[in-house]
Amino acid sequence: MNTYIGIDLGTSSVKLLLVAEDGKILSSHSEKYPISYPQAGWSEQNPEDWLDAVKRGVRNLLEGQNHAMVKGISFGGQMHGLVVLDKDDNVIRPCVLWNDGRTEKQTEYLNTIIGKEKLSSLTANIAFAGFTAPKVLWIKENEPENFAKIAKIMLPKDFIAYMLTGNHCSDLSDAAGTLLLDVQNRTWSEEMCALCSVKKEWLPKLYESYEKVGELKKEYAELWEIPENVCVAAGAGDNAAAAVGTGIVGNGGCNISLGTSGTVFISQDNFSVDKKNALHSFCHANGKYHLMGCILSAASCNEWWMNVLETNDYRKEQEELEELLAKNEVFFLPYLMGERSPHNDVNAKGAFIGLRPTTTRKHLTLAVLEGVAFALKDCVEIAKQSGLEIPSTRICGGGAKSKLWRQIIANVLGIPVEVPSIEEGPSYGGAMLAMVACGAYESVEEAAQKILSVSEIVYPNADMVCLYAEKYEKFTKLYPALKEVF
Ligand code: XUL
Repeated sequence: MNTYIGIDLGTSSVKLLLVAEDGKILSSHSEKYPISYPQAGWSEQNPEDWLDAVKRGVRNLLEGQNHAMVKGISFGGQMHGLVVLDKDDNVIRPCVLWNDGRTEKQTEYLNTIIGKEKLSSLTANIAFAGFTAPKVLWIKENEPENFAKIAKIMLPKDFIAYMLTGNHCSDLSDAAGTLLLDVQNRTWSEEMCALCSVKKEWLPKLYESYEKVGELKKEYAELWEIPENVCVAAGAGDNAAAAVGTGIVGNGGCNISLGTSGTVFISQDNFSVDKKNALHSFCHANGKYHLMGCILSAASCNEWWMNVLETNDYRKEQEELEELLAKNEVFFLPYLMGERSPHNDVNAKGAFIGLRPTTTRKHLTLAVLEGVAFALKDCVEIAKQSGLEIPSTRICGGGAKSKLWRQIIANVLGIPVEVPSIEEGPSYGGAMLAMVACGAYESVEEAAQKILSVSEIVYPNADMVCLYAEKYEKFTKLYPALKEVF
């Protein structure tokens, strides 16, 4: 049977899957790479590290597998990162990542001087510090020598696609997060590019996520011992790829991703913009649209806290927390990297609030899980205020492996949380996009229908829903009270 490689170029690691045409996962592998925080609120990665990890990763993924059957490769990728290449295709400087907050000034300029209304009319979105366009302006102002060298700009997964195929390409779901795309018409906004000093010739060619962008270069086919005509499909931003991988491709479906970031992703058949632009309005990987709220630190909060506790045993730390569920007075604000949705504040910070002499490690661990769930609820509330209904959600990402966290999310949101039979999200979605590009399925929807199912539904517990509604009321007062301090 033909097989497909899905590559999820994440923030902490690249996760790879080899998937058969019938949806069965044949092999999986991941490779870590470093992230650097050169100044408070900044975050960067070296694109060459990603490429090395992909090279090693695919070799390891295919060990013991039938190499000759590989037909396609595609991606999910961390969004918004700015990769800049010079005229000889050298990487000019490290990639400025999606959760980097250095562009406060440029974001302010775009939102106030150009104006939110204009940005929204051109791109369907307003500026957030992590988006790509403000980063171009930052380089122009702060690193003129680097700015002068720019010949190409691209998003993280598109750097990998470029290296593998030689095609300078992007897909519409990821391009939507640059703030340079006319999302409704699925094309670059020339006016927005001019406003951000982006030259037309720097921009990648646009594709739908399920379209072929090229064939594998000989050197990679040889390195991985797979056929040279392997098809490379455009792929998608990680959230759109995750939605494909969890089957959220129909109108109104919701997927929550609990990865380094946390996202509430609502699939839409038609283009729309929420009135206050609090939700991102982006293209979906099935040729349609989606709305999304994004919190910058989700499972990464728990990872940070486990590091503080100097443990790797996440499961053990979550044992016996159930008995505290109704009694925990401690709050956690998860703004470790500032916050995107809904506060749009690069200066927001994490906090524990409500400590007493009786507070234990368990209360704090539970507060972290609850704080992330409340921040996700902030996004869900905005969606509801703009008239969207979210009767249930699917869930994926590293954090979603925790049974307790899934239950807390169901109780905090007050809706059933569906656990897909395959929880891999973006890497699985990437493999599905490669299948569609190769003609194994007619459309992304058909692939989702034929391959995916739900393995478990976590229902909210009525008593806990009430208790969490009260605790959430208090949670919403904490950020405004602390804003000045941050
Ligand atoms: C979405 C966002 C994050 C990254 C994480 O807008 O910034 O979810 O894509 O990889």
